[in-house]
Amino acid sequence: MGAQSLTVTDNRTGKTYELGIEHGAIRAMDLRKIKVAEDDFGLMSYDPAFMNTASCQSRITFIDGEKGILRYRGYPIEELALRCTYPEVAFLIVNGELPGARQLNDWTWQITHHTWIHENIKKFMDGFRHDAHPMGMLISTVAALSTFYPEAKEIANPETRRLQIVRLIAKMPTLAAFAYRHSLGMPYAYPDNDLSYTGNFLNMLFKTTEVKYKPEPALERALELLFILHADHEQNCSTNAVRSVGSSQVDPYSAVTAGVAALYGPLHGGANEAVLRMLQTIGSKDRIPEFIRRVKEGEARLMGFGHRVYKHYDPRARIIKRMADEVFQVTRPNPLLPIALELERIALEDDYFVSRKLYPNVDFYSGLIYQAMGFPVEMFPVLFAIPRTSGWLAQWQELLADPEQKIARPRQIYLGAAQREYVEIGLRDAEQDEFAA
Ligand code: ACO
Repeated sequence: MGAQSLTVTDNRTGKTYELGIEHGAIRAMDLRKIKVAEDDFGLMSYDPAFMNTASCQSRITFIDGEKGILRYRGYPIEELALRCTYPEVAFLIVNGELPGARQLNDWTWQITHHTWIHENIKKFMDGFRHDAHPMGMLISTVAALSTFYPEAKEIANPETRRLQIVRLIAKMPTLAAFAYRHSLGMPYAYPDNDLSYTGNFLNMLFKTTEVKYKPEPALERALELLFILHADHEQNCSTNAVRSVGSSQVDPYSAVTAGVAALYGPLHGGANEAVLRMLQTIGSKDRIPEFIRRVKEGEARLMGFGHRVYKHYDPRARIIKRMADEVFQVTRPNPLLPIALELERIALEDDYFVSRKLYPNVDFYSGLIYQAMGFPVEMFPVLFAIPRTSGWLAQWQELLADPEQKIARPRQIYLGAAQREYVEIGLRDAEQDEFAA
């Protein structure tokens, strides 16, 4: 097989096998030929939480966690953040190329003119309790969209796929904003097609009695930047959820719903909410050393620090930290910022964090900015889900086009009981009492 291979000796049998290496990986299925007997199932790899398993080949996002590099379709995140709008980046992620001027006009027109949602979705939203978490509302309403577009099931049809992608990218801000207004008991503000993607989102969130809402340019741009930074991040928890659910060939609304649900968790999209709660609990700079002590003793977790992939400063966190100053010039400064800066300074000098390569991630500063912009903490994961929709959809498309992909179905190592005798219900109490005695 040559140099691009791995020779393995099975010490149980003394047999030697040669496994091919491609792109720095062996194929897990090649392990199956390693058997102790003809009727043996074959060797499997055991990898809870996918710590060292590539589940796909992808051409969308590149991350080098050791060097702190993030690129979408080959373009460095720093450059895209500086020069592009979010719709431009969404086009790039979904289609693989930066749009030409005509393409961008057309794309922007489409995602602007698909922002409306069916009036019945509003009624649906009205049914939620006044204090319903907007992420719960978003999960439900994205799933509900599939019932309004039954043709979305035709996932093999490229035109149908394209239309659902446009609809989802266009409608996510509307669903998110309506969920927010519901929590305030405010009437829904309808989309304004004259505004940019983020400007219109701010309009639907914050418009009150003015005839025409004018977004504050600095905040519109800050949100745009945050959307660009959150657009994709290769095979993270929510993307894996979208791919896994999408592998059953369900419609994209249902697949994206899985992604939104995954993002709701505090270790993923809920982390910036958790960062703010943590900073509020710390309360003042003099209480930081005590908090760090608790983290080191395993009683607390320094939220917004650490990442499965980045073992260096998350490049997105660096961009956000720089942006914070611009935002705080037009909003009131966030009183939690000095605590965050001091916490970062202390943690980055502490051997516990340095030796474990724990650096600030994208969530460490994003919550402070969102809060200064007037968003309640419950909206933070929602603000993540909106731009990540383009990434999820690009990954979903890539999955469908990949002839190697099948329905995702991991294996397990069964450690439970061997076959047992069924016990009638009338006898179980006596059996349990016997065990307890
Ligand atoms: N605070 C304190 N210790 C930590 C932290 C943290 N934030 N993160 C990791 N560690 C410790 C672990 O306890 C472990 O220590 P040990 O070796 O003594 O057992 C070591 O660092 C390695 O951590 P793992 O848990 O193995 O790292 P993993 O890759 O599984 O977890 C994760 C990554 C979930 C992001 C983790 O760092 C974490 O919980 N961070 C806080 C939550 C957070 O900020 N999440 C946002 C991630 S970014 C995103 O989703 C967009």
